Amino acid sequence: MSDEASSNGSSQHRRIAGRLVIATHNGGKLAEMRELLAPHGIEAVSAGELGLPEPEETGETFHANARLKAVAAANAARLPSFADDSGIVVDALGGGPGIFSARWAGPTKDFSVAMARIERLLQERGATTPEQRKAHFVSALCVAWPDGHVEEVEARTDGTLVWPPRGSNGFGYDPMFLPDGFDRTFGEMTSIEKHGLPPLGLGLSHRARAFIKLAEICLD
Ligand code: IMP
Repeated sequence: MSDEASSNGSSQHRRIAGRLVIATHNGGKLAEMRELLAPHGIEAVSAGELGLPEPEETGETFHANARLKAVAAANAARLPSFADDSGIVVDALGGGPGIFSARWAGPTKDFSVAMARIERLLQERGATTPEQRKAHFVSALCVAWPDGHVEEVEARTDGTLVWPPRGSNGFGYDPMFLPDGFDRTFGEMTSIEKHGLPPLGLGLSHRARAFIKLAEICLD
């Protein structure tokens, strides 16, 4: 992919229209991405539904992994493809788990294990006050077309980590994450509260914020 092929940062943005592959095998993300795309009349089909293989995430940044997934799906399906790479970045853990957020849940994808691991590491570091337990979610979004064109955006939501986890909504690390300015974790919020876009929601989650940026450049 040449730099010229990327329109990010230039005025030559490309509009998304018609059919779009959502390049994820994660059911939680798929549901959120479908909800975000629905009002724009985009017909979204998932990589899982098309039987596309899941590429190995070998990038060193959220941005690189989002691009890798979107480009792999666009090439395999010969359709524009939309990918998210996201994760939780914990200040006291030097930015971990970061791009390894999914992997911390192990092969069984058990996020109670991953959250317990974060908590154990925070305790080992004596991180007990909210100030010492700062974290943020990051979402990097990429849309790739079969001709090599890509559009990319990234956004974050800041908060603190609570223990024990609270709430059973959402997915992944949601029950541990208390977004700044709120007294309920993502796991205690409804999907509209977590990632609903204005006027229904506040555009609170990292994915919703990144999506708002993407919509500004690529959607009607
Ligand atoms: P990946 O982008 O497929 O590498 O996976 C990112 C991982 O980060 C997910 O499996 C979740 O564990 C975590 N993650 C990303 N976004 C969220 C979110 O909105 N809530 C909770 N966990 C998330």
